[in-house]
Amino acid sequence: MREDRARWDARYAAGDRRHDSGPVPLLVEWLPRWPSGRALDVAAGLGRHALALARFGWTTDAVDVSEVGLRILRRRARAAGVTVNAVLADLDAFECRPASYDLIVDTFFLSGPLIPKFRQWLRPEGVVVFESHLKTPGAHGGGRYALNPGEARELFADWELLAYAEGPEEDGSRVIDTVRLVARGRPGRRSA
Ligand SMILES: C[S@@+](CC[C@H](N)C(=O)[O-])C[C@H]1O[C@@H](n2cnc3c(N)ncnc32)[C@H](O)[C@@H]1O
Repeated sequence: MREDRARWDARYAAGDRRHDSGPVPLLVEWLPRWPSGRALDVAAGLGRHALALARFGWTTDAVDVSEVGLRILRRRARAAGVTVNAVLADLDAFECRPASYDLIVDTFFLSGPLIPKFRQWLRPEGVVVFESHLKTPGAHGGGRYALNPGEARELFADWELLAYAEGPEEDGSRVIDTVRLVARGRPGRRSA
């Protein structure tokens, strides 16, 4: 955790704005379909999704290990006139009450053990918007935390997939290969 924190603090302090190009198209597409509720932005970074959620009226917790990132997020929220609850925490140890959220957003933070916890943290009809780098042979794929094609389906095997896509996606001025999905926990199959 300490290593992650130092690394991301240094990146944000040095002006790294990778991924900071507005909310991912999948969230932009789906957000207007849902009534606002309580949301968790996992590894929120500089807050592009937390801010979008707050603008749509969601009560939003934004969790990240980087104090520098969260400082920027808080500043942005103030400037936008919205409220985001920025929480400095290590997601390896983060816990919350069961059934706390209607929506969890997890983009470009890959942690297998976290996905079963999402089931506990979501309310019965709650949904996850998830996106990750994809390992592909071309120029737009790969990265240390990329998933193999099809692997996200296995990670969410216990979930009802409302949307699923793999392939190139614009991310600011670059194109990256991603896997992206919207998933809902199946009723009665809440994992331990
Ligand atoms: C690639 S960025 C993604 C940021 C954001 N989700 C987005 O898509 O714009 C990864 C984020 O994960 C955070 N992070 C890394 N390890 C973490 C941990 N153990 N607990 C909480 N946040 C962590 C970093 O500080 C960084 O903000």
